Amino acid sequence: MATVAIDPRISHSTAGFVTADHKMLIDGRFVSAASGKTFPVYNPATGEVITHAPEAEAEDVNRAVAAARRAFDEGPWPRMSPSERGRILWRVAELLEKHNDEFAEIESLDNGKPFSVARIADVPLATDMFRYMGGWTTKIAGKTFPISFPGDFHSYTLREPIGVVAQIIPWNFPLLMAAWKLAPALACGCTVVLKLAEQTPLSGLRLAQILHEAGVPPGAVNVLTGFGEGAGAPLASHNDVDKVAFTGSTEVGKLIVKAATGNLKKVSLELGGKSPVLVFPDARIDNAIQGTASAIFFNHGQCCCAGSRLFVHEKIYDEVVEGVSKVASGINVAPGLDPSCQMGPLVSDEQYRKVLGYIESGVNEGAKVTAGGAKKAEHGYFVQPTVLTNTHPGMKVVDEEIFGPVVCATPFSDKDIEAILRKANDSIYGLAASVWTENLSTAHKVARGLRAGTVWVNCHNVFDASLAFGGYKQSGWGREMGEEVLHNYLETKAVTIAL
Ligand code: NAI
Ligand code: MG
Repeated sequence: MATVAIDPRISHSTAGFVTADHKMLIDGRFVSAASGKTFPVYNPATGEVITHAPEAEAEDVNRAVAAARRAFDEGPWPRMSPSERGRILWRVAELLEKHNDEFAEIESLDNGKPFSVARIADVPLATDMFRYMGGWTTKIAGKTFPISFPGDFHSYTLREPIGVVAQIIPWNFPLLMAAWKLAPALACGCTVVLKLAEQTPLSGLRLAQILHEAGVPPGAVNVLTGFGEGAGAPLASHNDVDKVAFTGSTEVGKLIVKAATGNLKKVSLELGGKSPVLVFPDARIDNAIQGTASAIFFNHGQCCCAGSRLFVHEKIYDEVVEGVSKVASGINVAPGLDPSCQMGPLVSDEQYRKVLGYIESGVNEGAKVTAGGAKKAEHGYFVQPTVLTNTHPGMKVVDEEIFGPVVCATPFSDKDIEAILRKANDSIYGLAASVWTENLSTAHKVARGLRAGTVWVNCHNVFDASLAFGGYKQSGWGREMGEEVLHNYLETKAVTIAL
């Protein structure tokens, strides 16, 4: 079994989990795919196969949806008291906390991100999400309405779970994306079929064990591993699914919308981005350099909200670009489990080739490379943090989401904030943005004028379970997190009684 190349730096228990015979969670039981098929899971730091996961297909999707349907129509989860549901979600949070470092090891090994980052960001944020949503279970409530219709009536609304939810997630924050999806759906009393990303199935499979251990009843959560076409597509189009929640590429988001038309299931989407970062001449320069570098290089640029278009006022443009390039060149790119690692490999060979292809296309279209620009090592999917200048709209690197550690810098000369906003808003996306300034008025005007679901001022990539996150324009439909995400998983029923 353990003849595969497992990193010697991980603990015995984590290695034991990684090399185990992996099973999916369907109807409260841990099972193989109906076909018996599996697919390989890679270590992106070496390109080697570390284990295999079950390959779910339509038959497994049918079994999982049937289990979720039964659990919704007849099972205890939607009927349980809100307080008991909340307690179970809290138990999930406690178990995640207890196994924090094990999850961080799994995440680092499977996704490539630094262990040091996963243990202070990915896992604690996932834990917070379960705890925060555990608090919401007892606060989901309707309202009463004094209505004006002639006569005497008592009118109120009920907030009810939407039903069976299909959730499809990507690989950039495997555990966190599972938490963002599962916790609110469960808080609302929905039952779920979650399909993990084929690149990074391991932390979600471990989470399935924890959900089971915490007392989530059979069928209330089903966890599948498999590919987009084989498992994701039949799940998104399934007629017994009431709602599909998707995070991933805008391209697949559009396919999800089409797949949902069969039974007009409800849809929420968290898609791509090309987030602008605006540095004004009054910004604290050191702060802005560090902050805008981390806006793009955090998680190796594999963030839907990565600050990938850097606009800097011409007065400080050279200084900022030089500073960001210096930060980029100084980042220690290494395997995620290496204690000195600041940036790991990209997640997969596909992403590695895609990102290198973008850099090449940028150069071919006239971009100048002021840092990075190439692969980093002979083995594994390592790419150098890269800064491109001489870029303008119309170039692929500027218009399209690269999803790697590549930033395109452009100077602006405008004093007119409207003109700067037009440049920043010139994108099919509208997920996030940051503005760097010490001028209060500039900060507020820009925050108001940006067409984006999140605006950060003098910071970037700050998240909290209480803060709604999601996109304008082609960055998505609906919001994740906060009170807002509950709308994704609830129906509103208006009840009127003639008195
Ligand atoms: P993807 O959108 O293909 O995959 C995301 C999830 O959707 C995975 O679980 C996948 O199995 C599933 N999926 C794929 N095709 C499907 C289909 N036809 N029906 C149902 N489910 C399907 O993303 P991929 O291929 O991993 O990455 C491609 C690009 O997408 C990246 O370069 C990046 O630009 C973008 N992306 C954006 C993310 C975000 O957070 N907004 C996350 C991951 C990727
Ligand atoms: Mg894909």
